[in-house]
Formats: sequence, C-alpha cells, structure tokens
Amino acid sequence: MKKDVVKLLQKVLKEKGIKLKEEELERMIEIPPSSEMGDYAFPCFFLSDKLKDSPERIALELRQKIGEPSATNFEDIETRGPYLNFFLNRKSLARQIVWDVLTQKKNYGKSNIGKRKKIIVEFSSPNIAKPFGIGHLRSTIIGNSIANILDFQNFKTIRINYLGDWGTQFGKLILGYKKFGSEKKLEKDPIKHLFEIYVKINKKQYEKDAREEFKKLEEGDKKNLLLWKHFRDLSLENFKEIYKKLGIKFDFYEGESNYNKKREELLNELKEKSFAKKSKGAYVIDLTSYGLENALVEKSDGTSLYITRDLAAAIERYKKYKFEKMIYEVGREQELYFKQLFKILELKGHKWAKNCIHAYHGHYLSKTGKRLATRKGKTFFMEDILKQTISMAKKELKKRNPKILEKELEEKSMKIAIAAIFYGDLRSNRINNIVFDIKNFVSFEGNTGPYILYSYARAGSILEKAPPEGKFEVQELEPKELDLIKKISSFSEVILNAASSLNPSLIANYAYQLSQSFNEFYHACKVIGSEQETFRLALVQSFRQVIKNAMHLLGIDTVEKM
Ligand code: ARG
Repeated sequence: MKKDVVKLLQKVLKEKGIKLKEEELERMIEIPPSSEMGDYAFPCFFLSDKLKDSPERIALELRQKIGEPSATNFEDIETRGPYLNFFLNRKSLARQIVWDVLTQKKNYGKSNIGKRKKIIVEFSSPNIAKPFGIGHLRSTIIGNSIANILDFQNFKTIRINYLGDWGTQFGKLILGYKKFGSEKKLEKDPIKHLFEIYVKINKKQYEKDAREEFKKLEEGDKKNLLLWKHFRDLSLENFKEIYKKLGIKFDFYEGESNYNKKREELLNELKEKSFAKKSKGAYVIDLTSYGLENALVEKSDGTSLYITRDLAAAIERYKKYKFEKMIYEVGREQELYFKQLFKILELKGHKWAKNCIHAYHGHYLSKTGKRLATRKGKTFFMEDILKQTISMAKKELKKRNPKILEKELEEKSMKIAIAAIFYGDLRSNRINNIVFDIKNFVSFEGNTGPYILYSYARAGSILEKAPPEGKFEVQELEPKELDLIKKISSFSEVILNAASSLNPSLIANYAYQLSQSFNEFYHACKVIGSEQETFRLALVQSFRQVIKNAMHLLGIDTVEKM
C-alpha cells in the first residue's frame, strides 16, 4: 500500500542524507495511468538538485539500495526513466487490507495526527426566537461532519453552538411582545408566535422604540431580561428537539449573550491602544490599510455589536482552551466580517489569531437558481423539510417492500430522510452554492445518500445468505476485485485530505465511488458458491464496514435492510 512505499522510500532516502516527512512523500507518490507501470510511482526529478545528479541515475541508485523485492511487500520494483515503479504483491495486499478492516472495525481509517490537540468547531449557531430554517442547516450538517472527521484524527474537538441570542433584534421582539404578544399563544407554539411578532414589528416606524428596549436590556432591566430569558428557553427547547432528530450533539451551547458583559473590558483595551477611534459618538477601527472596511465596535448609544461579542468570545475561548485551531462554520456572506474579526484580533496582539479559520459554505439554491432562505412570507422551516423528506422516503420504501410494517417504516424513513438531506449537502464542496432538491436527494439511484445506504444493505443480504466464517484464503484476484480492494485501502488517505482541507465532500464522494466499485465487483464476480467464497465474503464484509465508517463521518447512520 501507499504507506509501505512511503516507509521504504523514507528509509533509502535517509541513507542518502535526505530526510522527508511521511506526508511530504505521500504527496509525491503518483498512481501510474496503467497498472502495467505498477501500482505506485515515485518521480525522482525533485531530488536532482539536492543530489546533483540526473533523475534517471537517482532512480537507478535508489532501486539498488532497496535491494531484493522479496524482502518488501512488493512483488517487483522497477525503474522507468526518472521513475521508480512499485508493483504490489496483490495477494498479500488483499489479505492485509481485509484483515485490517475486519479487525479494526469502526476504527479502520483512524489516525493519530491530532494527538489530542484541541480544536474548537463552532457550528449551527441559529438565532433565538426564529424558526430553525434552512439558513442554518448547512452549517449544522457541515460543521458536524468536520468535527467528526477531526475526532477521527484524534484531535480533541470542542463542539460549540454559538446562539444568536443577543442584539437589537431582541429589542424588537420585546417591544413586539409588549404590543402584540399573547401568553397563551406563546405557550402553545412559541416559535410560531415569536415569528409572527417579529414579522409585525420589523418595520421602520418601530425602530426607535426597539432600540430603546434593547438598551434597557443591556443595562439589565429586570422585565426585559425576564422576557428575553423566556424567549431563549423556549427556542432552545425547540432547537434541541430538532438536533435530537438529526442526531447532532454539542459540547456547549453558548451564545452572544455570554460575552456581552466581557465586552466592556475589551472596549477599553481597544480604545486605550487607540485602535478604536471616536467617530460621531461611535467607536470605529480603521482597517482600510488592510483592504478591509472599517469596523464599528460600539454604537453611539453605547450598545454592543455582533463583532464586539465575537471578539470577546474568541479571547475568552483562547484563555479557556488554548486551542490549536478554532473553526467557524458560517456562510460565505460573512466572509468579510470574519476577515475583520481576525484582523482586529491580530492587531490586538493575539498570535493565535492566525489559527482562526472561517470555513464557509455557499448557500442553497432553488431549482431555478434563486437563493433559498428563511424570509417572511416564504419560509423554509426545518420541521417542514424533514416531514416532506420523510414522506418521500416512505413512498420509496413502500414501493420496494409493500408489506413493510408500520414501525419499521417509521424508523427507516427517518434514517433515509436524514441520509438524503445530509448527503445531498455533503456531496458538494462546501464552498459552492448547491441546489436544494429533495426529490433528487431522496432518489435511490445516482450519487445520493439512499443509494449508498442501499448498496450497504444489499451487501448485507449477501452475508445473511452465507455468513462469513472468519477465516479466508486469497486466490487469484479478478480486476474488479482488485479495484475494490485498492479503493478500500485508500480510505485513510481520503480522510487525511478531508481533514486538512476541512472538506467532507471528499469522503462523501469516496463513499459513492466505493459503492460503485462494489456494485461492479458484485456484477463481475460470483461470491456465494465460488471457489473464492471465503475471501469474497470477507471482502463484502470489509466493504460494509468502510461504508459504515465513512457515513458516520458524514453524520449518517446506516440501515441494515432496505
Ligand atoms: N447567529 C449567526 C447568524 O445566524 C451566526 C453566528 C456565527 N458565528 C459567529 N461566531 N459569528 O448569522
């Protein structure tokens, strides 16, 4: 496998006085265009300068140093011009990989790159007193997956939900509730009622009074604080129900309100070092020399701002965790905002500011290419989306199994719906805008979550007919069989890349390719009743394990039968 090539090269290069890290070598190794040229190739061009020799001669020399291939995991190692080509011992490779998967099980693909270093992943972060809408779904799905992937690399992730629970909108809400609120309605369906109020009050004529209410809130007015807390509690309860359905967990729920007190200290520091300059009664930080817009850090009425709370939050979190990195999974529309935030932290002298990352995502589009968002009138609430997706999944399941029992139907349709929505998002690179098309997401065919779950279930039914015995013997390998084995063996490398680029779509697409590779293998190679039955059953089992592990990294649960 690639790791063996790396190890071997590392050893012989060291003898030549060249020290290279595993990751560096890993990146240099190529997969030749045809298997006649071997399974892996190492180009020697880049050594030419260092060793003051031609790449061809370097290749020859390295080959000599490696010696007899029987002492390695390779059947043969050849030079071809400036390349060293490695030919795997395919049978021993097959045995090793299947053995690894079946013994390591849910740990297959794990690494210790993180060494328990702390990484904060802040994601989801919806706004209190508003319905959980499609606007926060992407951050929820992607952030969760990024945290899963980093966990698998043995980082110590800290999952934070930073609720939008402070700001002028609460002035509006409090004013609105005082004017149009009803306790009864609030008890019955809090989110709906608060949303109605918000739509009614969000008008120019109320702006001044709303600002007044927010100022009172910030100054600690008892009545306003009580109302605010009530709204927060009710919303959070509703959000937690949704997270539970989606299988999403956080280590901490915090919010902007947690950092509202700390900001005074912060503002004083900013003013002292004269970053923040007074301008028309407000305080502003000039960032124009960095190609950024000026940042307003205090309003003229003395109330706090989104960015002041974020600055205080970042500083507090660093004090508390000394994080290696802090990742904010937030939409692309806040790109400039995060640049300002990180710049101010840097200017304030926080060296760790460079370890703050805005891992942004594009937005959802409708099929006609318009942006989807939760707006008044037309809204896309998570609860409705989930209901709709579940009912579509039910239809598909019934089509395949008309006699399915009601309880089973409920359970499976829920899992399939989540797989559909999560996978539908994660199959695309997060930075792109994507079309939110539930019908396509739920389809059992093509690059979809249900297709992958279906392949997994199908493989399961093979094993049900002929349970593997645990022992296996490898014989000659068919090309499709070898393809599947190689695909399985590249899993840890895919995770590595996904982790370093914070890009779960690499794992999603890997799972799809792996399923395709499995289906091709199953089409081409007889499993039950063949001479290679023991090995092929073990291979089917390995395939299932890797799919399960990959889907878990995406936040998706597999289904045993479909
Ligand atoms: N609640 C914010 C919004 O909905 C997102 C918060 C992002 N995180 C942050 N630290 N600013 O737009």
